[in-house]
Amino acid sequence: MDQAIVIRAAGGPDVLRCESVTVGAPGPGEVRLRQSFVGVNFHDCYVRSGAYTTLQLPGIPGLEAVGSVEAVGPDVHAFAIGDHVGYITRAYGSYASARIIDAAMLVRLPAWLDDRTAAATLLRGLTAQMLVCQVFPVRADHTVLVHAAAGGVGRLLCQWASHLGATVIGTVGSEEKARIAANSGCSHTILYRSEDFVERVRAITAGRGVDVVYDSVGKDTFLGSLQALAVRGHLANFGQSSGVIDPFRISLLFDKSNSISRPGVFHYFVGAERDAMARALFAALEHGVITAERPHEYAFVDAAQAHHDLEQRMTAGAVLLAV
Ligand SMILES: NC(=O)c1ccc[n+]([C@@H]2O[C@H](COP(=O)([O-])OP(=O)(O)OC[C@H]3O[C@@H](n4cnc5c(N)ncnc54)[C@H](OP(=O)(O)O)[C@@H]3O)[C@@H](O)[C@H]2O)c1
Repeated sequence: MDQAIVIRAAGGPDVLRCESVTVGAPGPGEVRLRQSFVGVNFHDCYVRSGAYTTLQLPGIPGLEAVGSVEAVGPDVHAFAIGDHVGYITRAYGSYASARIIDAAMLVRLPAWLDDRTAAATLLRGLTAQMLVCQVFPVRADHTVLVHAAAGGVGRLLCQWASHLGATVIGTVGSEEKARIAANSGCSHTILYRSEDFVERVRAITAGRGVDVVYDSVGKDTFLGSLQALAVRGHLANFGQSSGVIDPFRISLLFDKSNSISRPGVFHYFVGAERDAMARALFAALEHGVITAERPHEYAFVDAAQAHHDLEQRMTAGAVLLAV
């Protein structure tokens, strides 16, 4: 019998219950995956709490995992039993010890990459690649502001942007996180729960503002992020960890000819671009552009604790369930 974390009704972390499930044989185009590590993402908390109603209940949440191929269905030629693979998917269902998945979703993991590191980096790393290389391609002469700079995506953004030569400013919720952000390439850190980050950014940039803000915090930071932009600066809002952003006047952008995007990785990690993005991510890991340091690792049955800690801002870096 296999195990899965099932949500029967939306609510707090305690609605995440470990149940026995039967995983059958893969159909045409599918594989059965024996999973080793499951990535826990902030998105999963929205799905669990009911803020997102994108998972049909009862259902198994989760967007990513890694593991090895245990069985292949008819017509699957790209993968064989024993292959080490990972995936990100909007089809959910990754909080499980084994699952059936469409083979087209799988990414083959390089031999040098261990499962733990892969699970800690796949979704967050592809998101960082999308933001730094595609949404607003960072250059050495840019100054970049990253909110939640010690977070899972935040740390990778800081590392990647600083590798590209940019000056990186990071906001963080504690002194300990400031140290993590500084070690991840931030030249300046701001404790945005006690300091006015707009004032600090103006002081750091001699009044100019930043070329781009990567903002996953949303509600609490949105207007300040706009204020912190330079003329023609870009605000990439890619999350809402503090809540949904209030409606705003688009004419606010006219003051400094600013632009805003609201990108989602599943619209970028598609078709032929999937391979290129995965290759870029693996190359960045292999060459030390980004690192997956010490993910917060929880036993599979402790998924509720993982959600609690992520929501209470107690984690820094990636969060994993070890199956
Ligand atoms: N658009 C996409 O395709 C995409 C892909 C992946 C992730 N995301 C989004 O990116 C964000 C980061 O994801 P992650 O998994 O790496 O999480 P994370 O950044 O490791 O955790 C969230 C962090 O946000 C900060 N935060 C600020 N206000 C908060 C509040 N009111 N409640 C909770 N946290 C708050 C906290 O850092 P401090 O303590 O330093 O403030 C917290 O540690 C999430 O919003 C996620 O949905 C978007």
